[in-house]
Amino acid sequence: MGLLLAVSAGILASCNTNQAKNNATMTDSIAISKMLPAESGFEQTIDGKQVKLYYLKGKNGMQAAITNYGGRVVSLLVKSQAGNMIDVIAGFDNLKGYQESSSNYYGALIGRYGNRIANGKFKLDGKEYSMFINNAPNTLHGGKVGFDSKVWDAVQPNEHTLELTYHSADMEEGFPGNLDVKVTYVVTRYNSLEITYEAKTDKPTVVNLTNHAYFNLNGPGSGTILKHIMQINADDYTPVNKDLIPTGKIESVKGTPFDFRAPLPIGDRIDADNEQIKFGHGYDHNYVLNNHNAQIPVATVIGDKTGLILKVFTTQPGVQFYTGNFMEGKFKMKGGFPDAHRTAFCLETQHFPDSPNQPTFPSTVLEPGKPFKSITLYQFEKK
Ligand code: GLA
Repeated sequence: MGLLLAVSAGILASCNTNQAKNNATMTDSIAISKMLPAESGFEQTIDGKQVKLYYLKGKNGMQAAITNYGGRVVSLLVKSQAGNMIDVIAGFDNLKGYQESSSNYYGALIGRYGNRIANGKFKLDGKEYSMFINNAPNTLHGGKVGFDSKVWDAVQPNEHTLELTYHSADMEEGFPGNLDVKVTYVVTRYNSLEITYEAKTDKPTVVNLTNHAYFNLNGPGSGTILKHIMQINADDYTPVNKDLIPTGKIESVKGTPFDFRAPLPIGDRIDADNEQIKFGHGYDHNYVLNNHNAQIPVATVIGDKTGLILKVFTTQPGVQFYTGNFMEGKFKMKGGFPDAHRTAFCLETQHFPDSPNQPTFPSTVLEPGKPFKSITLYQFEKK
């Protein structure tokens, strides 16, 4: 009898602890879901297509909110060293914020051609193609209405995954070929956001797909990213002219403000007396990655206030390191904080800018019957 009592007391006690744990988990998840923007801020019909906000969860606690409007990464919640969740994405809690700030491409999928095409022109198989000049004198990030402002078809096969598809018709924004694009976002059990890009065409064309997520590893309202520690695994970069078009040369980063082979604060040389820095108004340059096998990080960043570490992996040959030099504080982001100058950075994995006009760069030509596929991972760790 005594034993029975003791056992049941034990069971009761363990029930109580379990219940306490469940309650704690419930309170945690309520608190966490409050950190994610509400669906209602995104529900709208554009061109007959429904815009929505999708929530993704990883097995290890990481969470994401992604909208099918431009496939934009709206939020990524990651656990910090101190145990609290940090939203590492600079973005908005409503669709309007993204529409008003369209020229900043916050969090968006970029296509058909990420980065610049000189003078909005290129030749393919002897024929010249012209695009809209939206970044005079060049075409930037796909032209007048790029993939960043399209409503993608969305399927959520499970709570970790969002599949987005978009059909870009022949000659949309001046690019040849019917292009079918699929982007799959997965929040993995290893605390990473994995992005798989796939594309196929029915005529030869050019394609350069990327994501324009703006990160601040210290969280919203934490100020600039100048004290974040950056390491980029690249011996070379592609210097540009004053319009940010590559000169065609591949130059060593050695002895320049672009050398991030050893970890350094982003802000140390960002305003250096250097022509390339002036052209970019800071960092806005393509790095030639030493390896792009998705096995070794191409970049590692540490948030100085949270100790959060971001490791980027990719199969793409380049990465555009951009330090939010065109953020001007004009728009109110999540939490009511302005998108102030250099309060976020981007690591846009990509083919090199202007490749269609640069014969020495890796080719961005896509042929029918030879589908394109690339993978990029943004993985988070604690110090
Ligand atoms: C890219 C470009 C920048 C800028 C941003 C968006 O990173 O390289 O020059 O246009 O997009 O503001």
